[in-house]
Order: sequence, then structure tokens, then C-alpha cells
Amino acid sequence: MQQVDLIWHNGEMVAWEDAKVHVLTHGLHYGTGVFEGIRAYETDKGTAIFRHHDHIDRLFKSAELYYMPIPYTLEELRTATHELIAANELRECYIRPIVFRGYGQMGLYPLDAPVEVSIAVWPWGAYLGEEGKRVGVRAKVASWRRISHDSLIPHAKASGQYLNSVLAKIEATKSGYQEAILLDHHGFVCEGSGENIYAVRDGKIVTPPHTAGILDGISRKSIMQIASDLGVEMVERDLARAELYLADEVFMSGTAAELVPVREIDDHTVGTGEPGPVTREIQRVFEDALHGRDPRYTDWLDVVKVPSKAV
Ligand SMILES: Cc1ncc(COP(=O)(O)O)c(C=O)c1O
Repeated sequence: MQQVDLIWHNGEMVAWEDAKVHVLTHGLHYGTGVFEGIRAYETDKGTAIFRHHDHIDRLFKSAELYYMPIPYTLEELRTATHELIAANELRECYIRPIVFRGYGQMGLYPLDAPVEVSIAVWPWGAYLGEEGKRVGVRAKVASWRRISHDSLIPHAKASGQYLNSVLAKIEATKSGYQEAILLDHHGFVCEGSGENIYAVRDGKIVTPPHTAGILDGISRKSIMQIASDLGVEMVERDLARAELYLADEVFMSGTAAELVPVREIDDHTVGTGEPGPVTREIQRVFEDALHGRDPRYTDWLDVVKVPSKAV
């Protein structure tokens, strides 16, 4: 990963190499952390963080679901992120805030362990590659089911929960695919290891509902808005595995990956094997929204107020 100068840790800017925790940190042992993945893009108004408020809001909600009071306000974390981007002189970056139970208490009752907060920023290209965004990726339905509502909290973006995605991603990668698709506990389609998923058939988009155990993606919300503005019908409903194989187009969305077409699933070619017209159009508008090129979506941009220097 590409190192930068500073990381924000519990209210202080510390050198990248000094942003360390004790080996008995609670979150390291039991996964008691919640985090976000956010991106900032260069726009003609300056560096702008995409849907920053929504991401920090989800961070607070994830923390609350795990009984973790964050010792800062949303506005304090927002300002810290602006200052960190500027201090590292970044024009575009990935942003990773993490809230975790720190050192001081072991065992499974975590409420006496301190809650620590760090924010890291660094340059990070498209998670599934620029080529993946252009021509589409090959995906595999994982043998691992997505965590269900009765054992964990799919709505929370919690560190320990990601062991589920890690297993699916390893399985898909070792089998020669770029991404894993997880089914829910009923066997319906849920999402990718780090992305929401959509199938297009006869010009209409279908995407799995909250009850399937998806993460309520912020890119997904944006894509719903964009589809509506383009007059493309989008419905949330259970999706059978074979509907992916039979779709005209399939695509995935997430902050790290952005909007990625899927060209093959379990060795079935999706549609023509090339990104289709609905995917292309939504991808184009989504990219414009991310980069501040579409005036309809400028409210989604949180322009970094502290001026950042040229890289
Ligand atoms: C499991 C999972 N689903 C979906 C998403 C997409 O969410 P978002 O669009 O908010 O990045 C992510 C990425 O954070 C994820 O990790």
C-alpha cells in the first residue's frame, strides 16, 4: 500500500509508522471494531469527499449497534478527515476511519475497554482494477453464505464480520476469479464480498433487499437515485442464483470498487460478455457524480475546506 505521512489517531496527527496499537487490543482478538470506506476525488471545486456525511453517519450507527460510544462528534471526525487529507497533501484518496475497542480489558464483555478512533488516508486505485471497470470482472458464487440477521448484524460495517467476506474472497481468488458473490441464508443472491449487486433484465434493474442481509451501501443508494433520474426502473426483491446467469447485464457497486460490470459468473457468460447499455449509462453518470461533473449530484460532495497542495 502507498504510505503517506500522517494518520489521525485519538485526536492527534501521528506519523504513519507510529500509528500502532498494543497486541492485547480488544478489537484485534475479537473483531470489536467498526469502520468505513470512503473516497475523495479531485473535482473542479477542489478535493471532494463523496457522501461524507452519510458514511460517518453509518459509522456511528454501526458503532451503536455494537454498544460502542464514539468519543467524538460526527462534525469532529469530518473536520479531522479534512485536515488529514490536507496535511498529507492528497488530491484524491481512500479514507478509512476505524472505531475499535482498545487495550485495557480482555474477555468477551467489552464495555469496559476504551473506544479508540483512527482515520487513515492513502491513494488507492479502483479495488477491482481499471480494466475490471472497463471490460467487467469474472465472479464466482462462494460456498460461504453471507452472515445472517440471527447471528450477526449485516447492517453494521463491523471488523469481525469481514471474516465472512475474507473467506469468500480467498475462495474466489484461489479459483481464478476476481470477485465472490455470496448467497443469503435462504440461498438467494445477497452481494459481493465488498459490493452490492444488480441484475438487469429487459431494461429493468433488480437488486437484493435489506432482508437478504446486504450492507446498506451508499453507492447503492446513489445508484438508485441515478437510475430513477434516468427513468430506469429498479426493484428490490429476492433474486435467484440463476437469474444472475440469465440476466442481460450484471454489475456491482461499492466505494472501493466503484461501479464494476460483471461479465462472467460461474463460467456462464453474462449477456453478450461485454458491459451492457444500462450498466454503461449508470456507470457514466455515477463516475460523473463522483468527480463532481454532474450538477444534479453536487450535494453529495463534501469539498475539503483546508486547501490541499498539488501532489
Ligand atoms: C459487504 C459490503 N457490501 C456492500 C458494500 C458497498 O457499500 P458502499 O457502497 O457503502 O461502499 C461494501 C463496501 O463497503 C461491503 O463491504
